[in-house]
Amino acid sequence: MSPQTESFFEYLRFPSISTDSKYKRDVENCADWLIGRFKGMGLSAEKYPTPKHPVVVAKSEPKKDRPTVLIYGHYDVQPVDPVEEWDTPPFEPTLIDGRVFCRGATDNKGQNFAHILGVEEALKSDGELPVNVIFLLEGEEEIGSPNLTPFLGANRELLAADICAVSDTGMIAPGVPTMTYGLRGIGCLEFVVRGPALDLHSGVYGGAVANPAQVVAKLVASLHDDKGRVQVPGFYDKVIPLEQWERDMWAKLPDGNAATMKETGAPGIWGEEGYTALERRWGRPTAEVNGIGGGYQGEGSKTVIPREAMAKLSFRLVPDQDPQEIISAAAKFIEEQIGDDCRIEMDPGHDGTAYVMDPHSKFGDAAQRALKATFNDEPRLIREGGSIPIIQSIKDILGIDTLMLGLALPDCQIHAPNENFTIENFEAGIRLNQNLLKELAGA
Ligand code: BES
Ligand code: ZN
Repeated sequence: MSPQTESFFEYLRFPSISTDSKYKRDVENCADWLIGRFKGMGLSAEKYPTPKHPVVVAKSEPKKDRPTVLIYGHYDVQPVDPVEEWDTPPFEPTLIDGRVFCRGATDNKGQNFAHILGVEEALKSDGELPVNVIFLLEGEEEIGSPNLTPFLGANRELLAADICAVSDTGMIAPGVPTMTYGLRGIGCLEFVVRGPALDLHSGVYGGAVANPAQVVAKLVASLHDDKGRVQVPGFYDKVIPLEQWERDMWAKLPDGNAATMKETGAPGIWGEEGYTALERRWGRPTAEVNGIGGGYQGEGSKTVIPREAMAKLSFRLVPDQDPQEIISAAAKFIEEQIGDDCRIEMDPGHDGTAYVMDPHSKFGDAAQRALKATFNDEPRLIREGGSIPIIQSIKDILGIDTLMLGLALPDCQIHAPNENFTIENFEAGIRLNQNLLKELAGA
């Protein structure tokens, strides 16, 4: 195994799950490991505590005559559940057929480590970097970056840069260079419907009191009309429509409807009438139920009216929707449907604003040249449906755009069991980042 892969495996072995406080020490240890790694390659590095997980900042020695690149990534990972569906231990990196299986392999340790190694290689071969580099690695991305936005505000000078680069998005297929110029935003909302004071016999009381599970089902069903449009009043008011050049460009990509079915295993596609699967995923807002529960879930039947039921919703948003406005509008829409036969409790969750940049800006063109040099093919320009809320904050607070040069493949299983990253992309990522530094220096 190459020393680079060995070092990558060390990084992957930290179970740095940000959402579960049981892993707090592991998140911290992972940040310490990064500090050691950065210092070992000659960068200055510091760990900044926050109310939850630390931020790691590392810098090359600044030179006056060159632009500064801020490289953002996250070292926290998603939980591993359902753990029984993993074929290998989730935190023991395992190399099978050219793929490293491990939680965090793609999202995001593999991708940010390719940036780190790209810088290390450039330093080794040239003794210096063509640009100034600032690494910003956080431990809270998977929980909505609650402490990074204030950190940006409090550290404008420390993080001052000309452009930001992030590898935390996808490639449309292996070997196909892909630049992501937009991401959806997000707004989360949970609610619990409460009815009787205790679970009831459904024969004795059924038909005479509201059943919270049925109420939740009705509320959830009310979110969409039969054309797949979200029915929350005002939901589409601020939506910027897709531009014709984007629709034309995406129509030239391999059939997105078929790809969506193949990647997901769903027997058909579904969604807002008038849009292709790629347009629905990348450029249109949605309402999703991420979880729903209530009543008897065990084997056989149990004739009961549950005393409560719940649902967890998230809305994926596009420019210029305001996440807080959408969460409030959705809460109001749901609450107004509740009569006096039950009660509802709303719990708004985290949010993030959508982001779109100009892929043909000076730095955008430089990133495209780096992609072309690495993969020997014309870059495809896409938007994506996932969210990285801090990217818009980087724009708002630090005043710079972000180049998204992701390396996730459609079958890398991020957030799911058997997450994996191909060695091919790991190595391509290292070269891509070396090329990026050179191209940005000349931009
Ligand atoms: N890397 C993903 C986001 C992503 C995935 C962007 C695929 C583009 C393509 C990131 O780690 C993530 O999972 N973000 C969360 C954000 C949320 C927790 C605020 C998401 O999108 O659900
Ligand atoms: Zn993620």
